[in-house]
Amino acid sequence: MICRGCFSDALESVIDLGHQPLSNAYLTEQQLNEPEVTYPLHPYICTQCWLMQIDQYETPDNIFEDYAYFSSESQHWLNHCQQYVEQITQRFNIKNVLEVASNDGYMLQYFQQKGIDVQGIDPAANVAQVAIDKGIPTSIDFFGSDTNLGKYDLIIGNNVFAHVPDLYSFCDGLSISLANKGVVTLEFPYLAYLIKDRQFDTIYHEHFSYFSLRAVTTALMKHGLEVFDVEHLSTHGGSLRVYIGHEGAHTHSNRVAQLLAAEKAGGFYDLKLYRTFKEEVQRYKRVFLKRLSDFKDREYAKIYGGAAFNPKSVSIVAYGAPAKGNTLLNYCGVSTEYFDYCVDTTAYKQGKYLPGSHIPVYHPDRLMQTRPDLIYIQPWNWAKEITEKLSYAQEWDAKFLIRTRYV
Ligand code: TYD
Repeated sequence: MICRGCFSDALESVIDLGHQPLSNAYLTEQQLNEPEVTYPLHPYICTQCWLMQIDQYETPDNIFEDYAYFSSESQHWLNHCQQYVEQITQRFNIKNVLEVASNDGYMLQYFQQKGIDVQGIDPAANVAQVAIDKGIPTSIDFFGSDTNLGKYDLIIGNNVFAHVPDLYSFCDGLSISLANKGVVTLEFPYLAYLIKDRQFDTIYHEHFSYFSLRAVTTALMKHGLEVFDVEHLSTHGGSLRVYIGHEGAHTHSNRVAQLLAAEKAGGFYDLKLYRTFKEEVQRYKRVFLKRLSDFKDREYAKIYGGAAFNPKSVSIVAYGAPAKGNTLLNYCGVSTEYFDYCVDTTAYKQGKYLPGSHIPVYHPDRLMQTRPDLIYIQPWNWAKEITEKLSYAQEWDAKFLIRTRYV
């Protein structure tokens, strides 16, 4: 394996999360009777540029053929995007915008409302079609060196950088499609939060790379691009937004040098940190399994006084069927012995089964109908929004369990 950021072969194992199916490969009932394909899920760290990465087992074509993620599902995410549009149009003079991985047009719609020319590009045809139907021009394709959609004042890449198998071509495409004084902003989950908060569940096959700022600057350098500003964001468990321009085109904020220094001081360029992460994740699995079984047993004893086996023991369900939930459940080997079912607002996922664990996915209305005792909120990045939405579960005194860095 060669580092996709700097092409060095100095890669060290971080943690083996076992063989897992693709996190977005939700199964139909029919597919439950067929073999399920799994691949090693095993992140490595490059000791040259400190890019954490997994090997590419699945082609992007297959991943995006029938993509299950619709960005407009979350109102909080839409609010985040709307704020971004206000901020970026005030800071820079923008006449046209290209969004890479424009999904269902969730972001470009706000630029369009301001009379700015927009163009999207996204390889997932079913999702891109939703944008096209809304009147947002979208090219159904991968972005890279071959992209020929003109030059742009602003290129946006939100939560796409991690999904790019060919980083070289992607960065080349940014350089080719960016106007001389133009700006690229990329948002991606930040490696520092992943490690510090043990967000191992954000590791899955569709995420090929996990970026430190140093890894980003190294990958861009080869294409005459540089990071001139950086911001921390709370989205997706902690992200970075980097501002990129052609070399020398923009004044540098000292935040870039400060963050690189903080990475060094924080041990991110030292293998020790990744070894400790591995031990913590392994411990997490043991604690999570104990918590789940304790809950079932303790509550069982409380309700039935430790009486003889009663199949109507405490019911636990999962709220949300995010990709990250699948990494966690499959790494921990958890299935319907704990979770009766899962609910999700995404119509595409309803009526299907979670990959690996085969937990059935339903419409959230099912919560009302079955009144579960414990609701385990899988998309911890949306926990606030979801617990607010689920306030009606107080009616039957349901408890919530939200993932923390420990359980
Ligand atoms: P998300 O955490 O955004 O992404 P990933 O798949 O990359 O881990 O996934 C959130 C999932 O939760 C998605 O399937 C939609 C679902 N969801 C709900 O069902 N209800 C909600 O209120 C929200 C915010 C999300």
